[in-house]
Amino acid sequence: PITRHYMFDIKLQKVTRLCQTRSIVTVNGQFPGPRIITREDDRLVIKVVNHMQNNITIHWHGIRQLKSGWADGPAYITQCPIQRGQTFVYNFTITGQRGTLWWHAHSSWLRATVYGPIVILPKRHVPYPFPQPFKEVPIIFGEWWKADTEAVINQAMQTGIAPNLSDAYTINGFPGPLYNCSTKDTFKLKVNPGKTYMLRLINAALNNELYFSIANHTLTVVEADAVYTKPFKTNILLISPGQTTNVLLKTMSKAPNATFVIAARPYATGPATFDNTTTIGLLDYEESPLSKTKAKNKNLPLLRPMLPKFNDSTFAMKFNSKIRSLANEKFPAKVPKTVDKRFFFTIGLGLSPCQQNQTCQGPNNTRLAAAINNVSFVQPDIALLQAHFFNKSKGVYTSDFPANPPFKFNYTGTPPNNIMVNSGTKVVVLPFNASVELVLQDTSIIGAENHPLHLHGFNFYVVGQGVGNFDPKKDPSKFNLVDPIERNTAGVPSGGWVAVRFLADNPGVWFMHCHLEVHTSWGLKMAWIVLDGKRHNQKLPPPPSDLPKC
Ligand code: C2O
Repeated sequence: PITRHYMFDIKLQKVTRLCQTRSIVTVNGQFPGPRIITREDDRLVIKVVNHMQNNITIHWHGIRQLKSGWADGPAYITQCPIQRGQTFVYNFTITGQRGTLWWHAHSSWLRATVYGPIVILPKRHVPYPFPQPFKEVPIIFGEWWKADTEAVINQAMQTGIAPNLSDAYTINGFPGPLYNCSTKDTFKLKVNPGKTYMLRLINAALNNELYFSIANHTLTVVEADAVYTKPFKTNILLISPGQTTNVLLKTMSKAPNATFVIAARPYATGPATFDNTTTIGLLDYEESPLSKTKAKNKNLPLLRPMLPKFNDSTFAMKFNSKIRSLANEKFPAKVPKTVDKRFFFTIGLGLSPCQQNQTCQGPNNTRLAAAINNVSFVQPDIALLQAHFFNKSKGVYTSDFPANPPFKFNYTGTPPNNIMVNSGTKVVVLPFNASVELVLQDTSIIGAENHPLHLHGFNFYVVGQGVGNFDPKKDPSKFNLVDPIERNTAGVPSGGWVAVRFLADNPGVWFMHCHLEVHTSWGLKMAWIVLDGKRHNQKLPPPPSDLPKC
């Protein structure tokens, strides 16, 4: 194993998209940001220097951060933000993970432009459990706003109503030709015939789950959230913000006379309006007779893929149930077979009273909110991990996050009369090595909606999912404890539930939230505290000396 050093200079950069130029926050002036390439077991030392006005933190999404919780990154959870002119060195080791993950800013909405891939190769001389690809290509989806995204979310929080939608979806930063004056800003993938490519797909969009497809090509899913899967073929993928999926693309044996459209478009189930536009890229064969004549021929016929309807939850449910862990001898699925702690969390939207500094435009002077077990999380003023580590929780957080919803109702049926949420900075405290089962139930309080829930510091096993209300008597008997997929972000089905299990073997404070950024802003988040174990190697070490102060 080696140590790899990266330098992340956070600075503004002028970028033109959709015929408009805007100064965006970037790492090293790049958009999307630089690619981190590493290997399983290697150490990463990433020096982040903040050259701009706003505070910022960087999160290494999906990296387990075993006993390195100080480097996890969510603002006010594991660290205070890096202020203007300050530096913080993120120092951590990749333990037992290989595949595609990604990094992004983790304060306010800065991740709109501050994101990039993390490619973790297997240990030296260890092959993939599938055919070695000829080439590997990261493909990262995003959203582009013509307006300043910090202004967009600040205004939404002021008024308590939904923020403006983005103006385009993007592939590797490019909106593609279906958007105004973006023909030149199109992602192009040049391939050779008869080869296998591995596409490392990452959904970095702020607020939208996406379908993905390539016309006339079948994709083989081999990995999800940096965990090998049982390979399966599909024409269409579904990928939620926070999720990553590796697919193999086998190109046609002879260069065909056509250009193929690569397309991504939202899967959306919520009550809010959304942008149903499509971002496209182009797949071209290197030796295609077409490529040679292209300059002359301006009206090339494009082959387009078919994508499901925007709210096709049946497709979502089916697709997600196809993703299974490889679960073989080399890569076993270590699903906790017994459970020490059970939790049942309701996930959904609601309303909360207008605050003093706001001018709320919701019904009866309320604002939109989102909650877990009816608790809408309030961001503390100092980081939870510091408060926990130095025994200074008083006035920062309380350890009374409810294990069950405060009231019972037909979660996916008629909403209760009172749809107001409570606010607080509440956490669950877990003993070291507790085996946890968590059922996440979507509610239809303001409307049913699919929520991609992300847990920091762990992978969880997705042992079950279903539509309607979770039935604690019947459903657990159907749980898959053999080869469930292990991941860090799982969709709570719209009007349904998902059950996950994980082993709390990583001491620290671990954020859990909906990866639809607007829901996080409204409070759909909470934190787990995992206590130190008794043995020396089961304890979280003290913070690095350059940890930013609030
Ligand atoms: Cu990718 Cu807490 O986030």
